[in-house]
Amino acid sequence: MPYSIAVIPGDGIGPEVAEAAQRVLDAAGLEITWNEVPAGQSALEQHGDPLPAETLAAVQSADAALKGPTATPKGVGFHSVNVALRQQLNLYANYRPARSLPGIKTRFDDVDLIVVRENTEGLYSGLEHTVVPGVVESLRVITRKASERIARFAFETARRQNRQRVTCVHKANILKLSDGLFLECCREVAEEFSDIAFDDCIVDAAAMKLVSDPQVFDVMVMENLFGDILSDLTSGLVGGLGVTPSANVGENLAVFEAVHGTAPDIAGRGIANPTALILSGVLMLRFLGEKESADRVERALHTVLAAGKTLTGDLGGNSSTLEFTNAVVSALD
Ligand code: NAI
Repeated sequence: MPYSIAVIPGDGIGPEVAEAAQRVLDAAGLEITWNEVPAGQSALEQHGDPLPAETLAAVQSADAALKGPTATPKGVGFHSVNVALRQQLNLYANYRPARSLPGIKTRFDDVDLIVVRENTEGLYSGLEHTVVPGVVESLRVITRKASERIARFAFETARRQNRQRVTCVHKANILKLSDGLFLECCREVAEEFSDIAFDDCIVDAAAMKLVSDPQVFDVMVMENLFGDILSDLTSGLVGGLGVTPSANVGENLAVFEAVHGTAPDIAGRGIANPTALILSGVLMLRFLGEKESADRVERALHTVLAAGKTLTGDLGGNSSTLEFTNAVVSALD
């Protein structure tokens, strides 16, 4: 049976990098039926809704989904398409590996860590109100249920990938109740995983250690806002947004996407780097249990990056998206 994959090309450079990723995954030899569905600004323009019900249904019924970046329509009343997608499909875990890539020069050449971010609550609960004019409150919601669930996801990921340690990143010294609960839940779940070491780190100290000594971290688990910020930082450690993949995972459901946005400054010019979405496709193949194909695509990508001859502008080259994609397809062994 071919895999049924929902693909959301999205906005800006989204369709360009989605097409590239689809081509590479098709060339890896698996049978994939792509079901293209809309979301974002383009969906609003064409269907009157930035996140049509048809798109949600397609993602729910597919084996997995591959998503390009989407722009949130400007104006009151529109929530982020990404936040809505994660909340409506209960994609509670954001998984972002940061691993040094061959040929990409960065400050450190041996980064290999995973950020696991809680995706459904914290300050992204959307609970904001004006108390009196000039005073606004945003509610930061932390629940035992979501905290235990994300902690368990982090430990299960660590176990599956033969990782040694999970670090809970928090601010429980100040946010004693909310982050106190998050840390407590992580500690309790840690007791179920005696084969994996556990420690914790205050978020500001974690930020400092990440930029000075990122090798000390293995799997890091944190609430939504801290994860949003620190996972972009870890992306910067390994070459930036153009090369960092991610997955949003729920119960038997996952959406794989690059962490970058729609890059309006280069959209439509055919020069975007598709590496992040191709690597998201690699994560998708692993999620589907297709380890061999995942390894092949990853090897091909590494070969092209290491050779350094066919690189897009963000990596210092002058190749187009198409030339880079052709090079990766040709490098498949
Ligand atoms: P951005 O990631 O789109 O762009 C930041 C910079 O990185 C730009 O200079 C851009 O050219 C460059 N860049 C990003 N991806 C690249 C790639 N694959 N190849 C080469 N260069 C690349 O961030 P920005 O400008 O803050 O956001 C633009 C739009 O994207 C906004 O509407 C935002 O809401 C949306 N966005 C969507 C996301 C998603 O759907 N997952 C994530 C982040 C932002």
